[in-house]
Amino acid sequence: MLIKWSKDLEIGVPFVDADHKVLINLLNQVDDCITEQEETTVLGSVLEALVSYTEYHFTREEKLMELAGYPSIDEHKNVHQKLFHKVRAIYHSFAADRESVQVDDVRSFLQSWLTSHILVEDVKYRSTCIDKSEAAKQAGMVPFINTNGTHVPFNEWGFLRVLLVDDNPNFGKLVSTILKAVGISNIEVTQTPSEGLALMSRRPADVVLCDWVMDEMSGTQFAAKMGEMEIPSKIVMLTGYSIDTLQTKVSSPNISAYLEKPINAHNLLDTITRTAFNG
Ligand SMILES: [Fe+2]
Ligand SMILES: [Fe+2]
Repeated sequence: MLIKWSKDLEIGVPFVDADHKVLINLLNQVDDCITEQEETTVLGSVLEALVSYTEYHFTREEKLMELAGYPSIDEHKNVHQKLFHKVRAIYHSFAADRESVQVDDVRSFLQSWLTSHILVEDVKYRSTCIDKSEAAKQAGMVPFINTNGTHVPFNEWGFLRVLLVDDNPNFGKLVSTILKAVGISNIEVTQTPSEGLALMSRRPADVVLCDWVMDEMSGTQFAAKMGEMEIPSKIVMLTGYSIDTLQTKVSSPNISAYLEKPINAHNLLDTITRTAFNG
């Protein structure tokens, strides 16, 4: 583990601490994948989630500072901007050519940027913001996704049940982190399709995220078995191949959507939301 959460990192505003924990989780997941060649696709997905969640966290934090009347907000915003550019540059370098990036440099940067920022910069606004509960409430309500009217409030996401069937444990960890970060806490993850079917026969999920290529049975076979067992859950099929390839090879009435890996956190949540709530 690269970074461990500790009391020193606590700011005392619940949504801020929750965001910082999500970011630390994502950083640790980058470290889990960064040295393994075969984890390139997962690493792409994790870095994308880190960029998206960093941007989201900075937006919420800046809103809190603004509403609470923190006098040094412009300085803090400047620091955010610089950090965000660096994290995004790392993501783009990896996406373009991971061989061109020094793994150790990325590791040491990621290890220090967030903790140093929390311990040096974020603590400065603590005394201004800690008792401003209305400001914290409003800033905490900034949604992670809000696209084309498909945004669903957190309290509805809280009722959603999601199952992920994917034989890559690092991918499972990433999807759990993203979903839990936005309030989808009813999530089960399994690496074996047969266990997924057993779980579904006991209590169907609203949405099943299923990898297409797995050793035990393919996503296509999994979808067919769900149909045979009359499990009403909707399926989102995931693949490291292109969606076009997947769509031409796999179509089934219970497959509602297709997603390409590396995934994009916004796209994942948007797809889950559309699938679950919009039919
Ligand atoms: Fe900050
Ligand atoms: Fe922060």
